[in-house]
Amino acid sequence: MRMREQLPPGPYAPRAVQTLGWWTRPHAYLERCRSRYGKRFTVRLLGPPPFVMHSEPEHIREIFTAPPEVLHPGEGAAILEPVVGTSSVILLDEDAHLEQRKLMLPAFHGEKMHALTGLVEDVTAREVESWPRDEPVPFHRRLQKLTLEIILRAVFGLDVGERLDAMRERLTAILEYGAQPLANLPQLQRSRPWPNKWDRFVGLRSEADALIFDLVAERRGERAERGDVLSMLLAARHEDGTEMSAQELRDELMTLLVAGHETTASELAWAFERLPRVPGVLARLVAEIDAGDDDAYLTATVQETLRRRPVLPNVAPRLVKQPVEVAGWRYEPGVCLVANAYLTHHDPEIYEDPYAFRPERFLGEGPGTYTWIPFGGGRRRCLGASFAQLEMKIVLRAVLARYELAGAGEGLELTRRRSITVSPGRGARAVLRERTGRGDVAGRSSAAGRPVRSPAVHA
Ligand code: HEM
Repeated sequence: MRMREQLPPGPYAPRAVQTLGWWTRPHAYLERCRSRYGKRFTVRLLGPPPFVMHSEPEHIREIFTAPPEVLHPGEGAAILEPVVGTSSVILLDEDAHLEQRKLMLPAFHGEKMHALTGLVEDVTAREVESWPRDEPVPFHRRLQKLTLEIILRAVFGLDVGERLDAMRERLTAILEYGAQPLANLPQLQRSRPWPNKWDRFVGLRSEADALIFDLVAERRGERAERGDVLSMLLAARHEDGTEMSAQELRDELMTLLVAGHETTASELAWAFERLPRVPGVLARLVAEIDAGDDDAYLTATVQETLRRRPVLPNVAPRLVKQPVEVAGWRYEPGVCLVANAYLTHHDPEIYEDPYAFRPERFLGEGPGTYTWIPFGGGRRRCLGASFAQLEMKIVLRAVLARYELAGAGEGLELTRRRSITVSPGRGARAVLRERTGRGDVAGRSSAAGRPVRSPAVHA
């Protein structure tokens, strides 16, 4: 009870009831809490410590810049451990986190990401070519398949062949397990109430690990230069000059899979859900893609999608390890401080008309460090932020250059939690129709189904 009095006010409903609201109607739940308790409030869920939500930019700045020994986001992400392993950058804190992050950062530099553009375009063109046309279908699953393929090819560096097929099969099943709501409750993870499911998960994980260890051993012996993320990790060195161990490499590859696959797929699913509902935006975007000499509006559209529908509505919860004051409120160890992206992005004091989908707001003026936080911030900011935005741009460009994207003639899609992300409730239902009557080269498709563009589009 003392703890409750020491924390900002929040719902008094039992934890199970709060968890239900949080899980089933994430946005509505957050909005309700804000309208009742203000921009800073406490929610209590089954499992984790109390979450104190923050959505004032100044509060977010204080959270993102707090010293590493005071707030521990790594501990707050412990639910991911069965999949990502104990050396994952996501689970570590303080020096151990910094060391792992330094090893990984070079792989995600802008120029390295741009070097992967051709590969991502090829994988995208092949998948997009196979998508159904002229009928309403849910695209989320197809986008998941696409983003998984992109990670396997560009991050794991797998070539087309048996190993890629074997890895895809195991990882898809592992990710399915993680997507079950109950698999994410820490108590249930510990007690393992469904031994069969857990045993199957452990079996699949061992098979996937064996494939990764084989891949790592083979690639260590190779001399060829490759542009994929695994190559960069193989070249990385600890401060004492040693290379990353096979277990570290395995854990970081699984981390990148978990962090980068469903997030990007869900974000693209939201773009498919939103765009047909804003015809003016869609028309302007298609015109820019057809003209082929600029991608400012495409960039702004991706940024607006991330603002309007941040697939992680809150960034990694930071567990308080030492007493800390944030904007005048003192927090003791044992609670989590959470920067809430959804509420920050939908604050009329920050964004005019926040519920309107309007990429124009980001033209000229880029998003702010503490007001646009779909990728979190500070020393924990998403390592794959550039990669994800590049990927989203490539996919949207490939789709819109070739197809007309139309709604499925149904109402807005509500939100649904899947694994760690929030995605469109009906799976992003839309219709693709082959475009006709395009006069310019930029929008035309080559025989292989790949859009022909001018080189300037890569900029
Ligand atoms: C639209 C897609 C994505 C979104 C919305 C997203 C969002 C996030 C967020 C909110 C965090 C936590 C940051 C914090 O708490 O401050 C994070 C962390 C992370 N993300 Fe992403 N992410 C996306 C795609 C990716 C991709 C494609 C990759 C890599 C292939 C990736 C790799 C990571 C890693 C490694 C971390 C942990 C960083 C650390 O703890 O130091 N993410 N991401």
